[in-house]
Amino acid sequence: MTTEHTTDLTGEVVDSLERTADARLRELLTALARHLHDFVRETEPTMAEWERAIGFLTATGQMCTDTRQEFILLSDVLGVSMLVETINGHREPGATESTVLGPFHMTESPVRALGANIDLMGTGEPCVVSGRVLAPDGTPLPGAVLDVWQADPEGFYDVQRPDVQPAGNGRGLFTADADGHFWFRSCVPSPYPIPTDGPVGKLLKATDRHPYRPAHIHFIASADGHAPVTTHIFVAGSRYLDSDAVFAVKDSLVQDFAETDDPSLAREFGVPNPFRYARFDLVLEPV
Ligand code: BEZ
Ligand code: FE
Repeated sequence: MTTEHTTDLTGEVVDSLERTADARLRELLTALARHLHDFVRETEPTMAEWERAIGFLTATGQMCTDTRQEFILLSDVLGVSMLVETINGHREPGATESTVLGPFHMTESPVRALGANIDLMGTGEPCVVSGRVLAPDGTPLPGAVLDVWQADPEGFYDVQRPDVQPAGNGRGLFTADADGHFWFRSCVPSPYPIPTDGPVGKLLKATDRHPYRPAHIHFIASADGHAPVTTHIFVAGSRYLDSDAVFAVKDSLVQDFAETDDPSLAREFGVPNPFRYARFDLVLEPV
C-alpha cells in the first residue's frame, strides 16, 4: 500500500469515530488511531511481528489477577505511568511532587497511632520517619491523613509473601496531630526488583534492562481542602536512584535517612541506638 492509501485508511477510521457521543472519548480514540497508524507506517511490522505483539499483549492480560496487574507494570516500565502522573501532578511551587502509585497499594493500610512501628517483623535496620503536612504558605494541616506502605528489607510487600509476612506489615494509616506533625517507626527500605516472572520481565530481559527500583517508602497524603498527593520518599544514596526501572525518581523526593547516634532521642522514640532518621515535610496544594 502506498502512503497515500494508508493515509486514506487512517482518515476512514477517524471518520468512523465521528458519531461517538462522548466528545472526550472521540478525542482519545481519534488520537489513538492516528498515532497507532503512524507507528505502523514508521516501523512497517511484518505479519510475524504483529502476531508476536498481539501474543505479548494477550499474555500481559492473562497475567493479571486481583493481586497482580501486569498492564500497570507495562505502563510503568515504558514510562507511561510516570508521564500521566506528572501531567496530572500539582504545579504550585513548593508543593510536594507526585510520583507513581505502583501496583502494591492494593489493600487497606491498618489505622495506626502516631509513632507506631510498621515493621512488624522487626528484621530491618530501625528508622524513624517524621515531618509535618503543610500548606504551601507553611500553615500546618492538622488531621491530615498519611497512607504509608513499603517493602520489607528483602524487597517484598506483604501481599507478595502472605505466607512469610503478616498482613499490614510495612503499612500504616496515620493521622497528623494538631500541628500537622506525623511520625512513625519502620526499617530502612531496600532496593527491590519489580516482578519479572511475566511478559514485562521478558521485555526487560530482551532490552537488557535491570528490574530494580531504588529504596523508597510510598505515601498518599490528604487533608481537607487540599489536593491529595501520591508520592514516595527515596533513600539518599540508594542504588538505582539514577536508573529506576519505572522512571519514578524526582530529585525533590530524595531524603537523607541520617545515621543518628543519640541515646536520649533513641529512648524518646523507642528505637535502639544508633538509628536512621528521615525528616521531611509534605506540602499539599489547596483546591
Ligand atoms: C512500587 O514501587 O511498589 C512499584 C512501582 C511500579 C512498579 C512496580 C512496583
Ligand atoms: Fe514500592
